[in-house]
Amino acid sequence: MQQHEQVAMIKRLLALREDRRDEKMLDEVVHIPISKYTDQALLDRELASAFTTYPLIAGHVSQLSEPGSYIASDWEEFPYFVIRGEDGRVRAFYNQCRHRGSRLVDQRAGSVKNLVCPFHGWVYGLSGELKGMTRSHDFPGIDKSEYGLVELPATESGGFVWVARSPQASLDIPGHLGSFHDDLVNFDVASLVQYKKTRVVKEANWKLLIKTYLEGYHVPYLHRETLAFAFKRGVIAYDVEGPNIRLSAARTNIGDTAMKPEAEWRILDYASVYYTLFPNTFFILHPDYVSINTFWPDGPERSIWTHEMLYRAEDFPGSTGQSALNKRFTFTNDDVFDKEDFAVAEDVQRTLTRGGSKYHVLGLAEGLLAMFQDNIDQRLDDVVEANNEQVA
Ligand code: FES
Ligand SMILES: [Fe+2]
Repeated sequence: MQQHEQVAMIKRLLALREDRRDEKMLDEVVHIPISKYTDQALLDRELASAFTTYPLIAGHVSQLSEPGSYIASDWEEFPYFVIRGEDGRVRAFYNQCRHRGSRLVDQRAGSVKNLVCPFHGWVYGLSGELKGMTRSHDFPGIDKSEYGLVELPATESGGFVWVARSPQASLDIPGHLGSFHDDLVNFDVASLVQYKKTRVVKEANWKLLIKTYLEGYHVPYLHRETLAFAFKRGVIAYDVEGPNIRLSAARTNIGDTAMKPEAEWRILDYASVYYTLFPNTFFILHPDYVSINTFWPDGPERSIWTHEMLYRAEDFPGSTGQSALNKRFTFTNDDVFDKEDFAVAEDVQRTLTRGGSKYHVLGLAEGLLAMFQDNIDQRLDDVVEANNEQVA
């Protein structure tokens, strides 16, 4: 958001606060069948549509700072790694040796000079080319140039590294995110550095986990001991760009804007700004740090949740800075997300298949959940085969 857009957003939030209402999201109450969270056949269709045709976030660019640095997939379903080449380009490959399929990198992130297969020692360069075969005399007639790693679409944009499962997927990130891409650029997400990234299995459907973020209704109740004080009388404004949703939630101090000229208003001083980056990332801008939360389905009732926290080094100098940062991370990650939001989501998931109601009901202030669900559902028929292409 440019400064004038930040001022406009703050004015929207101040007006909503007067009315004590979120921006209108729905005309009527919506019912969501619980099978959306339990059905394997539906998950298979989601994987073949939203998770195949859209760009997925591999991580933050600070993890690929030099040639040879790589980020590996957090999701067994899609075993890739992204690596920066000697030429500075970012490329993604299946994490699979072309000899007999061993994994080439086994850390979630790291740095290598070459990719050496642990099984029989074949060596690949950073651009995926097969550089050397051990006992090459035992492979007569094999042309090395035909046994490079299988490449996938990848790019870096707006501070994130993006990949896609389908070679046909478009990686036009500014086109995909519209004005939200400008937000990433204006907030200079690319210049942040990673504090920590965690990966945890949660016993809940991936959509159920994302949906915990999409309304403010629960904040005074579920978060009464943690976040509620910061968002007292909080109200939400929202915008959409294609299937992506941005929600801006006023903080308790938004009335303090009256004491400053508009030219000095900064949205993050008075609100938190959240994005659902379609399909599976929930990205949060706080005043002094940023959170990337991504949810990878591992069956209809289980997901892998990764949380990458980013910050600006000058905001948290020295050991005091690092301990402040650790406190922020622990509070957000453990106390709020894990022990409150996702604990309740797991609890809900446990009840789903044990009888009782067959649907959930969404009130008008929960409209973004309905919108998100709709965005997933609308694409269920856009099925594209993921790239399993191999040399015959
Ligand atoms: S599987 Fe990689 S060298 Fe054999
Ligand atoms: Fe929450």
